[in-house]
Amino acid sequence: MNPTKGALRYEGKAKKVYETEDQQYFIVSYKTDATAFDGKKKGSIDGKDRVNNLMSAKLFQVLEAEGIRTHFEKVLDDHEMLVKRLKIIPVEVIVRNLAAGGMAKKLGLEEGTALFKPVVEYCLKSDELSDPMINEDHIAVLKLASEEEITKIKEMALKINEVLRGFFEKRELTLVDFKLEFGRFDGDVILGDEISPDTCRLWDRKTGERLDKDRFRRDLGLVEESYQEVLKRVLA
Ligand code: TMP
Ligand code: ASP
Repeated sequence: MNPTKGALRYEGKAKKVYETEDQQYFIVSYKTDATAFDGKKKGSIDGKDRVNNLMSAKLFQVLEAEGIRTHFEKVLDDHEMLVKRLKIIPVEVIVRNLAAGGMAKKLGLEEGTALFKPVVEYCLKSDELSDPMINEDHIAVLKLASEEEITKIKEMALKINEVLRGFFEKRELTLVDFKLEFGRFDGDVILGDEISPDTCRLWDRKTGERLDKDRFRRDLGLVEESYQEVLKRVLA
């Protein structure tokens, strides 16, 4: 299928989603725009559209090869991919291997503290409410997903963590934490959204240097270079 780009269906902070002539598919177009802290900090990262598109594509293929269904269909060009049209479940699923960012702050832990098992967190996707953290009971009572779906989502998130941790370790990167989004397709729950330096914390294994969006969030410099370095290692 060679899709033609139809109407703009949705524009988010980092991506645009277009309809195609086929009801089953969308085109995702990655942007160079970067925001942080609920959109209060704004900027752009040159080349981020290409990095996030090609990195997500590679990781979705790695996950598919391990039996995890994703929305990925194919890369269309440097900054666009064809994906299955999901009904997104409005919950951000975060998996953590080391304490950092929000968890370190909330619990008074030093960033980089090892966790003896992965921690899974959920946040409600809501700009007005600043994506509050919620638990499995909240997800059930808000009817965001069935109990069966949430069990499957947690299982998938932990399996994805195992696969990606190994993948990044071989590339001298520590997967500190990351965020996933899931959606419904064909009666199944499958992985959607993106997996990129915007949505993962990735630290160089030897130097501990941050090679992800924290460079933008915290004004650490070398933002573009770090995104390119991660893509180079992912595609190596
Ligand atoms: P946090 O420590 O700020 O909660 O972030 C955990 C992980 O989730 C980190 O890898 C960044 C990612 N993330 C997003 O992708 N989108 C978001 O809106 C937030 C807050 C975090
Ligand atoms: N992208 C999110 C925002 O703009 C948060 C983040 O990734 O830090 O709010």
